[in-house]
Amino acid sequence: MSNLLIKNIKELVQVEYGEPKIAVQGKAMGILPSIENAFLLLEDDKIHSFGEMKDCPTSADSTIDATGQTVFPSWCDSHTHIVYAGSREIEFVNRIKGMSYEEIAENGGGILNSAKRLQSTSEDDLFDQALYRLNEIISYGTGAVEIKSGYGLTVDAEIKMLRVIKRLKEVSPIEIKATFLGAHAFPVEYKNNRQAYIDLIINEMLPIISTENLADYCDVFCDKGFFTTDESKQILDAGIKYGLVPKLHANELANSGGVQVGTEIGAISVDHLEFVEEPEIEALMKSETMPTLLPSTAFFLNLPFAPARKMIDAGLPVALASDYNPGTTPSGRMPFVISLACIKMKMIPEEAINAATINTAYAMDLNSSHGSICVGKQANVFITKKIPSVAFIPYSFGTDLIDKIILNGKLHSYLTSS
Ligand code: NIG
Ligand code: FE
Repeated sequence: MSNLLIKNIKELVQVEYGEPKIAVQGKAMGILPSIENAFLLLEDDKIHSFGEMKDCPTSADSTIDATGQTVFPSWCDSHTHIVYAGSREIEFVNRIKGMSYEEIAENGGGILNSAKRLQSTSEDDLFDQALYRLNEIISYGTGAVEIKSGYGLTVDAEIKMLRVIKRLKEVSPIEIKATFLGAHAFPVEYKNNRQAYIDLIINEMLPIISTENLADYCDVFCDKGFFTTDESKQILDAGIKYGLVPKLHANELANSGGVQVGTEIGAISVDHLEFVEEPEIEALMKSETMPTLLPSTAFFLNLPFAPARKMIDAGLPVALASDYNPGTTPSGRMPFVISLACIKMKMIPEEAINAATINTAYAMDLNSSHGSICVGKQANVFITKKIPSVAFIPYSFGTDLIDKIILNGKLHSYLTSS
């Protein structure tokens, strides 16, 4: 047994007493409980205790003096696609010149472009590229992450992606959840026979995924130009039969009915939601599905931002995630996601931080172990540089404010290597 004491903390953020919360919604999202002049004691890989400095233990195996510094629970990021081959900056330039995301996709770019490259990349090479990105997001303060397949689109390539995620789980210092997203796009050869691709997902991919225990969730890109609501239900229902909990990419490009599919089928989250109006809000209100917003995607594609303010004011919870992927968000920087949530979606810093910790932990079923400073939770925290207040995090967008990262109760050497 070993312990690590962090003392003289200027502000210990997102503390929870007793049983961990499931999620925070509506008005409660504006409250971020914290303790000034605090200590935090970590024992082995768990949070042991915390409180005011007057109650600080007098000795520990190792001690960090955090005078002037703030301590946060690590960010959780419930939506990424960090297993991919190469980059797509040519499409980025074509969009600047006027092409739309849909036009690029229709011309063989987009997801199909990434799929072609991934199919011809070895599992080891993919693993190395993804591990680099994993280390990169850890350096931004992320302490739990969900990673999707969906750039394979053949039986072999989808399974290859999921095996890479499984290997990442084995070596990663942070918790990883895996999502099967075979229904990310229709391969060209199935354009005129969509059901044949759906059958391939259901009859060939899902059984292997289940036998090899390769995924926790099943996701579908349910949107205009991609999978219809009926097609999505068919795939998600099949996933449920193999023990995979549904998640959806929904309402990114239109009011496509994806949110309602998700709430009806019991999805743990519906993600994107740039196109959300009253019917979607009503459906979410009656459900336990976490609306998850990905503002760096709207930023990168120049899409309208999701109506976070309307959703929170209606009493909903909201989660934030990065969507790190080569096409629509080549960045996994959670502090920037939080800045965008504040600047572009009018979330106050407390709401954005709740959304990037407790609520996004819920969206990957990790709310009992991650997302807050709570006795018994995983000891994943970061210590900031000296900052004047919590609001300084979203305010100083793009700036690296982390001084130290602690994962599983141990100081993490987080510099990425090339
Ligand atoms: O979440 N929306 C669907 N899929 C990904 C991006 C796909 C791509 O262009 O590579 C997303 O934005
Ligand atoms: Fe995505």
